[in-house]
Amino acid sequence: MRFKKIVIAIDGYSACGKSTTAKQVAAILGYRYIDSGAMYRAVTLYFLDHHIALTNPKEIFRALTQINITFNVNSKNVSETYLNGLNVENDIRKMRVSENVSQVSAIKEVRTFLVDQQRKMGKERGVVMDGRDIGTVVFPTAELKLFMTADILVRAFRRQRELLQRNSMVDLDEVIENLVQRDKIDTTRLESPLKQAEDAIIIDTTHITIDEQVDEVVRLALAKTIVP
Ligand code: CDP
Repeated sequence: MRFKKIVIAIDGYSACGKSTTAKQVAAILGYRYIDSGAMYRAVTLYFLDHHIALTNPKEIFRALTQINITFNVNSKNVSETYLNGLNVENDIRKMRVSENVSQVSAIKEVRTFLVDQQRKMGKERGVVMDGRDIGTVVFPTAELKLFMTADILVRAFRRQRELLQRNSMVDLDEVIENLVQRDKIDTTRLESPLKQAEDAIIIDTTHITIDEQVDEVVRLALAKTIVP
């Protein structure tokens, strides 16, 4: 049996399990996993640390020329985000970044800068990329597009648990507020808002486990990759 390499685009709301699913699907298929959200988070971290004014396009443009984002696999075979050579995987997940990332992601210059890099990363296919605009803007011709949703409370519990695993205690109320706020900015911004691509398959993860999510996506992917 022959298989061709495809692009799998996973979009959807915050904390629906996109990254967890994408990572495992990539490992099973032998594909590369690219966390586009981590790239927006890394830019946000840089802007916060360097006090970049989000209303000043010149300052933003200059700052972007100083930013180099890479992914490196650690000893446990997990991909981690590096900003200008420094491992920022933990820092970019903190609430300080979560509270500002959607404002930064709405900036046109930031999107142009990152979308260009994301397209280059997917040029050879064989990638799973998750985010908000992957199936609509970054790879509109992706062979498999998924759109993930889940109940807000379930998403908030999952995100709170994830933060706890990173030694960060955050009230559930605060997590909910952040998810709601980000979803609102992400879906209403002018520049490539989060929306379901017409040809995307919806996966509601409220009542299914990660294993079930992964199985479903792998099944859909294999159906697209088998060369008759
Ligand atoms: O992990 P979570 O689902 O909470 O978010 P993420 O994937 O890490 O993305 C963080 C933020 O980056 C989102 O809320 C969006 O504002 C932005 N983002 C985007 O605009 N476009 C993407 N392709 C990926 C993320």
